[in-house]
Parts: sequence; structure tokens; C-alpha cells
Amino acid sequence: MNTRDLKRTVDIDYGTPAREVAAMVTLEIDGNSVTVPAGTSVMRASVEAGIPIPKLCATDMLEAFGSCRVCLVEIEGRKGYPASCTTPVEAGMKVRTQTPKLADIRRGMVELYISDHPLDCLTCAANGNCELQDVAGQVGLRDVRYGYQGENHLAAKKDESNPYFTYDPSKCIVCNRCVRACEETQGTFALTIDGRGFASRVAAGQNEAFMASECVSCGACVQACPTATLTEKTVIMMGQATRSETTTCAYCGVGCGFKAEMQGDKVVRMVPWKDGKANHGHSCVKGRFAWGYATHKDRILKPMIRQKITDPWREVSWEEAISHTAGEFRRIQQQHGRDSIGGITSSRCTNEETYLVQKLVRAAFGNNNVDTCARVCHSPTGYGLKQTLGESAGTQTFDSVMKADVIMVIGANPVAAHPVFASQMKRRLRQGAKLIVIDPRTTEMVRGAHYEADYHLKLKPGTNVAIVSALAHVIVTEGLVDEAFVATRCDAQSFSDWNAFVALPENSPEAMAAVTGVSAEAIRGAARLYASGGNAAIYYGLGVTEHAQGSTMVMGIANLAMATGNIGREGVGVNPLRGQNNVQGSCDMGSFPHELPGYRHISDKVTRDLFESAWGVTLNPEPGLRIPNMFEAALDGSFRALYVQGEDIVQSDPNTQHVAEALSAMECIVVQDLFLNETAKYAHVFLPGSSFLEKDGTFTNAERRTSRVRKVMPAKGGYADWEVTQLLANALGYPMNYAHPSEIMDEIARLTPTFHGVSFDKIDRLGSIQWPCNEHAPDGTPIMHVDEFVRGKGRFIITKYIATDEKVTQRYPLILTTGRILSQYNVGAQTRRTENVRWHSEDRLEIHPHDADERSIRDGDWVGIESRSGQTVLRATLTENVQPGVVYTTFHFPESGANVITTDNSDWATNCPEYKVTAVQVMPVTQPSEWQKQHQRFTQEQLELARVDS
Ligand code: SF4
Ligand code: SF4
Ligand code: SF4
Ligand code: FES
Repeated sequence: MNTRDLKRTVDIDYGTPAREVAAMVTLEIDGNSVTVPAGTSVMRASVEAGIPIPKLCATDMLEAFGSCRVCLVEIEGRKGYPASCTTPVEAGMKVRTQTPKLADIRRGMVELYISDHPLDCLTCAANGNCELQDVAGQVGLRDVRYGYQGENHLAAKKDESNPYFTYDPSKCIVCNRCVRACEETQGTFALTIDGRGFASRVAAGQNEAFMASECVSCGACVQACPTATLTEKTVIMMGQATRSETTTCAYCGVGCGFKAEMQGDKVVRMVPWKDGKANHGHSCVKGRFAWGYATHKDRILKPMIRQKITDPWREVSWEEAISHTAGEFRRIQQQHGRDSIGGITSSRCTNEETYLVQKLVRAAFGNNNVDTCARVCHSPTGYGLKQTLGESAGTQTFDSVMKADVIMVIGANPVAAHPVFASQMKRRLRQGAKLIVIDPRTTEMVRGAHYEADYHLKLKPGTNVAIVSALAHVIVTEGLVDEAFVATRCDAQSFSDWNAFVALPENSPEAMAAVTGVSAEAIRGAARLYASGGNAAIYYGLGVTEHAQGSTMVMGIANLAMATGNIGREGVGVNPLRGQNNVQGSCDMGSFPHELPGYRHISDKVTRDLFESAWGVTLNPEPGLRIPNMFEAALDGSFRALYVQGEDIVQSDPNTQHVAEALSAMECIVVQDLFLNETAKYAHVFLPGSSFLEKDGTFTNAERRTSRVRKVMPAKGGYADWEVTQLLANALGYPMNYAHPSEIMDEIARLTPTFHGVSFDKIDRLGSIQWPCNEHAPDGTPIMHVDEFVRGKGRFIITKYIATDEKVTQRYPLILTTGRILSQYNVGAQTRRTENVRWHSEDRLEIHPHDADERSIRDGDWVGIESRSGQTVLRATLTENVQPGVVYTTFHFPESGANVITTDNSDWATNCPEYKVTAVQVMPVTQPSEWQKQHQRFTQEQLELARVDS
């Protein structure tokens, strides 16, 4: 396939966005009758009728601008030549798109553009994929009368500051598409057209280099640019792609669809998929640009084994690695009992892979010792939403936010962690929706380009439940309850108990002000706005779940939504923003020790019978060990071996030293991953993992949307992750014989009611499917709990605020809270191996200038942070984004050791760690902490041991 073939597979550009209105309008274009929704442009109607009109400044991702004058048409009864992109259709309109006069005008316009454009088409990176080139061909331009002697921009200097794309002003036609993309699609407003008339050119920020401006490198402008002015550096280096495959981003829980554009088995670029229902053709810097880790030289591509972690690694064949692992697991079970081993599934792997790991543990290991990293992020969501609404998942589509009148964001910073959804949310805010932010920090969500929170409840970390009770107090005592909704949809007794509880004076905003640090007036205002401002939607993140009362807070949020009738339709709902790409899926697939796929308790005999007969084994009815319990059991000697697929528990779990001690106490740790990560340094077997580009499968995003992941290159280590699990099962004597991941999905569908209607074929046909998808909802379920809650009646649960045990003291007077930033992802294993380090190359400690001053800390100083768990050293950033008494850091770099500081405290219901509240002291220091020195030594030793002998 050549570049022209690729272009035919590229989505049609209709020139202007679709209109979603019921009223239809019929007109005539070049003698053809066309019917389109009212408000559609003549250009779009024409393309829909199969009659493309030349265009330069229009694209269907953006509202029309009408500057290039290439798209002119004739309309019967109208004077002149209106631009088809800015002219809406009218009933009975008669349009002509092809006349000699139009051809003349268009040719003249394009000639003007070309007269100030380098004629280097053959050597240009966009050759074969340039709209200016295409339009010149369409209008029949054969020569340019004006020459290059006059003033022009041909020598304008390139801006190559961005690591992923180049800005070459000599090729700019000032169509404004990039500026509009940055405003409308991304919402950053980093670009302007600088200068006037002939002198005008695109400028980033205050006429700065892209890297010095507010640009967040989302790439929307690059995608919108019709010429080679803004071009991916990979395209400049490699040339145009020759084929493309649709797949799903492997980073965050937004689950953006992409077209992986390829030359053979090499990625040329990732282009956000216009038909992707989670992203509608947009992306962030991670998904679009930060895929280089997949071919990074640090990848380990051969299996390795060793007896002790002080031994050098030995490269072995897959056969030897698998039979050694199976032998070790069986030996340990014989010596220490069936329950002495377990497995951890990965939220970065596909549904099919996750399903196989939990099946391996339950069917081949013969126990339920399986857990997943959702334990440390959204396990309280699973618990809290199941208890109140009846289903462990968010209630909406992302698109639903466009119908919200009030948006409440609690403990989440989507601008950094869920950027594409944040862009959509910001679009709604620019349209006038109100915003309430509940967060101890002033994040980018509080204030940004053309939006500002109406209320920012800047609470003290650890006081979420006090806030939610105070909000509820206002709603019930000021008559703001949606009585009709509660009466018909909710459990009356639970409502009455809850109502009485939250109405108590001790839950009033006035009583809670001292606890939360938020004024009663702000709490009252926010509660009134949420309850009476129209459609109100709650979005929340790990700032809700990662607390001692994480599950309580999730239930408190569900209570608020039910009490105000804000659930069961578009524009409302309870929406957990999932961190990793497949957190929702890994939970759905039965990764928790107490639940089989579809959130059915292992003690339920009917469910067990179903799986026992399908799998041909007897299942243990008792829940297995959670991750923290595995560590405890390892330390007491009863848990000896662990299979970890695609997680780095040493870096991501709290109290690193405790985790390391537990791992050191085990006999056989098997790590399956792309890189020799922190956990692999304690491993005895290393099995090469495969990236999302190397396998088929599905991911399920935060909207319950299951989308295809498609293999675009062979597995670099020889096997996709699901194949490795299958090999291991077979070596353990439990047969697995799937020929393709679609067969695994077929089994999931047979055994899981919420997936009964899901298959690869159907996903291919529909693009993606939101579960539940079954006989009742054959095409999936965008909005949940529409007529009734999954559990029948919605259940209110009393949410009593109990202060965390993690108290500030004279010795530890500050509260440390943690979070993420845009350019890095989770433990950073992927993003640290890309140019994204140009934005963030180290974790820093944010501290309020007042606290810094008291400690003689200046911006950029090295500071020691000490908690009851441990010590580490980071550099300080002084900022008023954190309140006095609170410090903040990210956890993307292993050497920072943020989790050396965090403690073993956890959520009462699910053991989700209390990452967000750690009492610490901070002081200036001049050298790394003892832990860091030891970590450096250990890392060096392990790297030496990994210089393998075969
Ligand atoms: S990359 Fe994104 S943020 Fe940067 S200028 Fe382009 S559209 Fe704006
Ligand atoms: S950089 Fe590209 S999109 Fe922006 S104005 Fe120039 S040609 Fe148009
Ligand atoms: S928003 Fe999330 S899913 Fe989308 S491109 Fe960025 S990291 Fe990937
Ligand atoms: S495409 Fe219509 S004016 Fe440019």
C-alpha cells in the first residue's frame, strides 16, 4: 500500500462539525437533493452528498472560520460567492459547487498561497499528505505568475524546540486551524496569529518558542495543520506511513482511540481516531507522542532466571523459564501448602490477559490469592458504588459532561491525569457550566484559560467525609432534596436514617469548618449550587479513594447524587476517573481475591458452579489474600511465591521498605514486564512482557467502554502476555489452549452476565461497547441506572467522619499529599523512557512559601522529608498552590522514593492505602537520604547482575 492508499483509509473530512438537532433541511447541490440537520454548513452537506469542495481553513474537528476563500460556491438568488464552510443550509437552497467562474476564483486564491510557499514538495515531509498540495491539484493550478522576487517568508526560521514536532513558518498559510485547535479542541489557548496582513504568522505564547510557551504538546495543532508547517519529527525523519491500524491508548483511563500509522512494523506516528468515542480525534502528549518506550533499548527481550537476588541473571529459553517457574511454584506449594503462592494482575494489560491471570491463580494455583493494582487506587470505588448503586463502575459516558450544568470535581486533576476528558470538560465550562472543585491544592482545574471554579473548597487533606456530610447537611436542611426521585427510586428506610444523620448539627458546615478548614459559607454555596443548579455531575479521583475513609467518601458521593436526583440520565452521575488504562477492566475481570469476573462473590455457590463446570476445577469458596496481606504472609513465612504481571509494586505500593522486606522474604518472584523495574530487582524469574502495540485484546476505560487493542508489530520477546500465562498454566498441568484473544473474550462473555453480548466481531462493528452488554442491552449501556438502580432501590449509607490515625505532631507537623503531572504516567517506567522527561525530569516537593521560610528553604533547595515510615530527599518548589501545613509531590521517579514516606494506613473496607495523608517533617539537607544511598547501591548492583550471561 502506498501513501495514496493510506489516505483513502484516512477518515473523510467533512469540513465542519456535525450538528445534532432533530430538524432536517433539504436543499439541492449540483442538482442532487440532500437532506441534513439544520445548522449544517453547505460544505458539509455537499461532502455528505459525495461532492467535495476544495478547502483550506476548514476541517470538521473545528468550527468554520471562513478565511481562505477557496471553498466559495454559487447559491441561486444570492449575490457574490459565499464561503460554503460558513454558510448554513436553508430549505430549498440551490447550490452550485462547480462552475467556470468558481474554478477561476479558486485557482487565483490558491495561486496566491503558493506564491509565498516553498516549492519543495518532492522533498517535503508532508509530500503526499498535504492539503495545500491536494487543493492545488483539485483547482488545476499549473503555474504561479508572481515569482519569488518580492517579499516572502521563505527564509523564516524553524522552531524545533518541541521534542516531538517542528514549526516551520515558511510553510504557513495562516489558515488559523492550529490556533482554533488549541482553543476549541485542547482549551489551552497557547497560539495566536501574530502581526497583520502579509506579516501575520502563528506565534506560541508571547511570540516564544513552543517549549517556552503554555503549550502542553497535545499535538492538536499538528493534526489540524493542512501543510507541513507543524509536523511530527518522526514523519520528517521516516516519511509518510504506508498502513494504519486502529487501537487504544495504553496510558490513562480515558481510553483514547488512535490510528497507529505504520511503515512495516515501525510506528511512524499515532493519530487520534476521529471516530473514537472517548476522544473524538483528540489526544494528549502521552498517547500521541510518548510511545517510544515500546522500542526502547532498556526492554528485556529474553527470559532470565536466577536462584537468589544476589546472583547474576542467566538468559534462558522460554521453555526453560516456563518449566523452571512451574517447577518452583509446585515445589513451594508442596512444601508450604496450596495457599503459599499467588498472582498480581495488571491494569495495563488487556482484559483477556487479566482474565487469564486470575484464572491461572484460581484454577491452576488452586487458591484465590489474586489481586490487582486497583487495590491501591480505585478499590473503594468498587466497594462504595456497589453498596449504594449496585454496580462497581461509573454511571456515564464522557460525552455526558456536555449536558452538565454544574460540574463538581473532587480529589482529581483531570487536566494532568485525564487530559482529553479535561479538554471536553473545559469546553463545557467555557459554554457556561458552573464548577465546584474540592481539593487541598489549587490545581489547574481551579483556574485556567476562560474558566474559573465558582467554589474551590480547599480542604485539609483527610477531611473529605466531613465535607460531604456538610454538603449533605445543607441539602437536607434547606429543602433541596429531590423528594420525588428519592421516593420512587431509593430505599425509604436508608434515606430516612441518612437524612436524620446528616441533619445533625454536628454535620453542619459551621461545625465542620474547623475540621475541614473551609468556610461554612463556601460549603453552603457549593451545596446549593450542586443541588439546584440543573444537571449536576460529580467527577472524582484518587483524592477521594486513597484515604482511610476512601470507601466512606465514595458512598457519600453516591448519597449526594441520589438525594438530589442527579443520576440516571445525561449530564449527571457519579464518575470515577480511572488512573491506568485498564483499571476498570482488570476489576471487571475478577482480579480481586473475593470476586469472580463480573463482581460476583467467590462464596456464591451458583457463580462458583458456573466457573467450576467451565474450568473443570473445584474453586476455593474462601477469598484469597489481598496485596497487603500477601506482604504480611510473606513476612510470617506462609506466602513464598508471586507471579506479577505488568505491575511495579515496589515503586507503586506504600511503605517501600516494608514491601521490599516482604519480597526479600519470598523464594520465587516472577516478574513479567517490559523493563527491569523496581520489583524485578527482587525477582528470581524475569519473563519479557509485550507492549500494547504487540498484541490483540481489549481495554475498558473509565466509562465502561471496551475497545480493541490491535497488534501492529510482532511481540518483541516472542510472546504476547496472554500467551506467556497460557504457557505457564500448561506447564503447571492446567490446560489452556486459546488460539487468539477473541476466544478468551468469548469465554468471558459466556461466563459474565454484563459481557454476554460482547465479542471482538461486535466491537469491530460498533467501534466500542459500554458494558453491560447483554440480551437487555445488545449494543451496550451508555448511561446506567436509568429507570432503576442495578441493586433495585438506591441505598443511602451513613457516612460518619472519623479523623485518620495519621495525625500531625510536633515532630511531623506537615501533611504530605501526592498526585500526578501531565507528562509522566504512574511509576514512570514508560514516560521516563521518552522525551516527556523534557517537561518533568524529577519529582519535586511543593511547599508553601510560609512553611519554606520557617525552615529557611529556598526554591530549588534539596530538602529531606521524614515520616514515621522513612526518609527521602527531593528538591523544593515554593508555591501557594499548596496551603500552609500541606506539602505535595508526585511519584513518577523511583529514586525520589515518595512511597518510602507513605505509611501502611489504609481504607477500612478495601485496604486501599492512605497515600493522600502522611504526617511529615521537611528540612533543608545537603545529601541524599540513607534510603536513597542504599537504593542507588542496590540499583547499581542489580544492573551489573543483569548484564546477562547466556
Ligand atoms: S500542541 Fe496542543 S497545547 Fe501546544 S500549541 Fe498545539 S494545540 Fe496548543
Ligand atoms: S501553522 Fe498550519 S494550521 Fe497553523 S496557520 Fe499555519 S498552516 Fe494553518
Ligand atoms: S488522555 Fe489518556 S488515553 Fe487519551 S491520549 Fe492521553 S493518556 Fe492516552
Ligand atoms: S475552507 Fe471555507 S473559507 Fe476556507
